[in-house]
Amino acid sequence: MGSLKGRHFLTLRDFTPEEITYLIDLAAKFKDMKRRGIPHDVFKTKNVALIFEKTSTRTRCAFEVAAHDLGMGSTYLDPSGSQIGKKESIADTAQVLGRMFDGIEYRGFAQDRVETLANYAGVPVWNGLTNEYHPTQILADMLTIREHFGDLKGRKFVYMGDARYNMGNSLMIGCAKLGLHFTACAPEKYFPNADLVEECKEWAETSGGSVTLETDPEKAVKGADVIYTDVWVSMGEPDEIWAERIKELSPYKVTMELMNKASDEAIFMHCLPAFHDLETKIGAEMGERFGIKDMEVTDEVFQKNAEIVFNEAENRMHTIKAVMAATLGYEEK
Ligand code: CP
Ligand code: NVA
Repeated sequence: MGSLKGRHFLTLRDFTPEEITYLIDLAAKFKDMKRRGIPHDVFKTKNVALIFEKTSTRTRCAFEVAAHDLGMGSTYLDPSGSQIGKKESIADTAQVLGRMFDGIEYRGFAQDRVETLANYAGVPVWNGLTNEYHPTQILADMLTIREHFGDLKGRKFVYMGDARYNMGNSLMIGCAKLGLHFTACAPEKYFPNADLVEECKEWAETSGGSVTLETDPEKAVKGADVIYTDVWVSMGEPDEIWAERIKELSPYKVTMELMNKASDEAIFMHCLPAFHDLETKIGAEMGERFGIKDMEVTDEVFQKNAEIVFNEAENRMHTIKAVMAATLGYEEK
């Protein structure tokens, strides 16, 4: 495998299974170094820019802590505090930031915005979530599954809910490339884009995995090792669609009853934030409007799997560190 130095990290479609595995392995090494207090601040002269056109807790904190651990400075540009898109184009912004920073993270809307940024920046650009993809999340998820089961290949992974958006797409790609059996379980209109499904089926043929689309939750989860879900309405989607999503996706909620139909060792995963109770502004509002007490997952399932879900959140930092380090030219001793 060649060096990843200078590469952008925009979607896992651009990376081979070997490269993805390398990044997961590197993250595991950084995690171990951090635990043992071994410094790895090898990029003391470097700085990174973190552009967030959508809000974030995990991704922002992961990039900031990882950059600091690597010895780098970081500058956070929030959804309202910069000129991006309003007074200055993405192309111009990329050329300005590319002259000051050694790498740029972008979270925002359409994938073509992060691609434009990458085309003009002249330094590595990392996708911190777009409407279409969330590739750093998938590295964290795969590290978490591997830590739990000891392997990835051959594991049965079921994604429940809105499977046509960033998380469904990216998990399908990650599973297909790394040899997991991926099932998207949703009403047909929420199935991932047909071209992407075909592309993933081809990768799965090489990796020994598979890609299945299923509308019946009971059938989908039979023998599953991992049941994964995400919010039913993503950032940037209009408030008016809540009613429709709750109606259409409620049969795909992850409940104890569903977990009990999976493998005996099955785990539940979620990229977070999750609506597993009414302890949030939106959760409370939906609870009141629709008479519900949770959405995509019940509190019981969530609490029972809290250790896994929060390991997953922690692993965002270790994997994002690996992505930055590898693309900035980190050399293992
Ligand atoms: N999972 C994730 O990307 O979380 P944030 O939106 O908090 O960054
Ligand atoms: N699908 C969600 C993922 C959040 C990490 C969103 O885009 O809001």
